[in-house]
Amino acid sequence: MTSSTKSRKRVLSGMRSTGKLHLGNYVGALANWVRMQDEYECFFEVADWHALTTDYADTSRVKENSLEVALDWLAAGLDPEKSVIFIQSHVPAHAELHLLLSMITPLGWLERVPTYKEQRDNIQDKDLGTYGFLGYPVLQSADILIYKADVVPVGEDQVAHVELTREIARRFNGFYGKALEVFPEPQSLLTPAAKLPGTDGRKMSKSYGNTILLTDPEPVVRQKLKTMVTDPARVRRSDPGNPDVCPVGDLHKIFSDRATMDKVNIGCRPMQEKRKKYEENPRLAWDILEAGTERARKATAETMDDVREAMGTSLAYEPAKIKSAT
Ligand code: TRP
Repeated sequence: MTSSTKSRKRVLSGMRSTGKLHLGNYVGALANWVRMQDEYECFFEVADWHALTTDYADTSRVKENSLEVALDWLAAGLDPEKSVIFIQSHVPAHAELHLLLSMITPLGWLERVPTYKEQRDNIQDKDLGTYGFLGYPVLQSADILIYKADVVPVGEDQVAHVELTREIARRFNGFYGKALEVFPEPQSLLTPAAKLPGTDGRKMSKSYGNTILLTDPEPVVRQKLKTMVTDPARVRRSDPGNPDVCPVGDLHKIFSDRATMDKVNIGCRPMQEKRKKYEENPRLAWDILEAGTERARKATAETMDDVREAMGTSLAYEPAKIKSAT
């Protein structure tokens, strides 16, 4: 690692690749990532393996979905000159570390993760009684620890996963880090206003079908906003409403304070125009991802050398460590 890269704190974050992003993704994470690029050494991962933990039965769109996420990221201002942008499955060392961390992660820790129970209860149309789904947060820990990330910018719903990552790091260092602490404990950095209400007032989420996409044309956005749930006490349009209990009011607090809706329109259009450049030539985006993969692989190889050294499985022939050879 060069001194210039070491001088800045490292950031790793990611999103499951489930296709086109919505406003909740933007406000809850992406806008923050864009701002962080100048201050930190950033790695941003399209987590396609994480998408497979629930969408394993049909993988026909996995690649397309990854590309869609990358296009939205680039359109929103993630800059490959500043940040490393890559697809998780293209960096196989994540899987190697995931395996090793799975050895030391107690089952009870995983069963207690709030998202585990919540998703198993909420997602009815898929069998989530799989080994991979239970291990979701271990894979996420590997994503973070393999870059020795200091900071993980995430929304509220991911804080428990970062907390688990810290516990796994501590346990790993306790077992194998006697000579050298291998993993720093990462801090989560909460995005302000991490939860954006969807059109029905629940958290904006693809699985609830209540999203406004970054790629929605303006008339579609207007239509979706028009049908949004408002203050439930406001039955008729002529009734007074309370913005504090109104999802549209929540949107106004996030967007309209900075600017009026007109300005939002101006702000949104260049994003869609920038995206168009990549939509017309997806190869450009793919090249960016490939370059990011190269850089990510390099960083992960350095960590895996440390991990193997600490666990005693380094590739070197070391007679002192092999009893029968001494
Ligand atoms: N679990 C995260 C989400 O659903 C996505 C993710 C995968 C992630 N790996 C990560 C986030 C590493 C932060 C760090 O949004």
